[in-house]
Amino acid sequence: MNTNYQFTLKNETTQTDYELSTLCGTVGPDVLDMQTLYQRTGMFAYDPGFTSTASCKSKITYIDGDAGILMYRGYPIEELAEHCTFLEVCHLLLTGELPDQTQLHKFTDDIIHHTLLHDQLTNFFKGFRRDAHPMAIMVGVVGALSAFYHDALDIRSKEDRDMCAIRIIAKIPTIVAMSYKYSIGLPFMYPRNDLSYVENFMRMMLGNPCEEYRPNPVLVRALDRILILHADHEQNASTSTVRLAGSSGANPYACVTSGIVCLWGPAHGGANEAVLNMLLEIGSVDNIDRYIKKAKDKSDPFRLMGFGHRVYKNFDPRAKLIRDTCYEVLDALNLHDDPLFKLALELERIALEDPYFVEKKLYPNVDFYSGIVLKALGIPSNMFTAMFAMGRSVGWIAHWDEMISDPNQKIGRPRQLYIGEPQRAVKPLASRG
Ligand code: CMC
Repeated sequence: MNTNYQFTLKNETTQTDYELSTLCGTVGPDVLDMQTLYQRTGMFAYDPGFTSTASCKSKITYIDGDAGILMYRGYPIEELAEHCTFLEVCHLLLTGELPDQTQLHKFTDDIIHHTLLHDQLTNFFKGFRRDAHPMAIMVGVVGALSAFYHDALDIRSKEDRDMCAIRIIAKIPTIVAMSYKYSIGLPFMYPRNDLSYVENFMRMMLGNPCEEYRPNPVLVRALDRILILHADHEQNASTSTVRLAGSSGANPYACVTSGIVCLWGPAHGGANEAVLNMLLEIGSVDNIDRYIKKAKDKSDPFRLMGFGHRVYKNFDPRAKLIRDTCYEVLDALNLHDDPLFKLALELERIALEDPYFVEKKLYPNVDFYSGIVLKALGIPSNMFTAMFAMGRSVGWIAHWDEMISDPNQKIGRPRQLYIGEPQRAVKPLASRG
């Protein structure tokens, strides 16, 4: 990494100049190196929401939000979605390279042989109310993995970290499917080793022990693609949460759980469920104008869910790919006239022509169409965010691994601008008030 050019920060009061240099990555904007700012100036940088802050160096994912570009390890998302399976993408994110045949065989074999949960873990589900949100169950059960695999885990050992990554990728689909089965009172389906990753998940989720389950290959491909598109997204809120939790040396299963917690919110992964609920609430094309007005009204908390992104100020490339997948799935199921899809297309068209959305560069994001595809696959809407978590787990663990492997890694510890009371004395109780 080269040092590029110098910036001078001038303190007008003391007439002191501080030189700050820039660092440049392989592609993308340079960053101002602030590491010694406090030490040299006695000041912190103030950046709530981290809109201007690079929190780390990373080799995993690159986004150019203005150009609508997303790449995993240098490969454009469009090419990965067309030519690779989710497990190939997992290998890529974790190791930096797409697997060859032998590597893929070994990786797949490792995943397949870790899909089962410790049988005692199944007791955890029974502790939840049947109507618990599946994300709440995920938080509990994925967190509990830390109580089952802690002995054999030395986070300084690459071998142990790799095993942890395998376990996360292998077991999360089983946990997602069990959360669903528990919520509807049906028996858990155990994994089957002769099926592909996605086929196995669909059977655990949608099959039952009374009959053979044969998933439609178009739907298998669609779900595989959804997982690829959700697999990583550089320093998003949940990944940053996993990194921050992991920076203290905490157990990685617990760190991944912190990612699940963060993902749950409607501004992040919870948006896919919120989009479907919003489309159902809008109900008909005739009501779109009313909801667009609500979204633009600053006194109304309503936002057009599935629209807008912190980084993409152009079309989210994942949204384009999911829209194509949506067409494929609805065709395969003979649902071209699906009213929800028609409503979504019309809402998108109207919003993209509205000056409010145009000026603020609010485009459909990954969540806008994913819910329609998942619904067509037979996945209920309260499971959508858990599906997102299933795809994103690999990104979380890849970032955690990258962070722990960095010899210069430090605990994450932001500072603040204190705006509370200055120092004051405690009065005796009788003289307060
Ligand atoms: N509907 C209406 N107005 C919006 C929307 C929206 N969906 N998104 C942003 N705006 C307005 C917002 O009111 C603000 O207006 P003003 O400048 O007049 O105050 C402006 O656009 C900028 O919004 P912001 O909230 O400051 O932008 P942000 O980068 O902090 O937030 C976001 C990004 C994704 C949280 C936001 O666009 C949003 O809430 N979208 C809806 C929820 C959603 O779809 N989330 C999924 C994100 S993609 C997948 C993921 O990350 O998990």
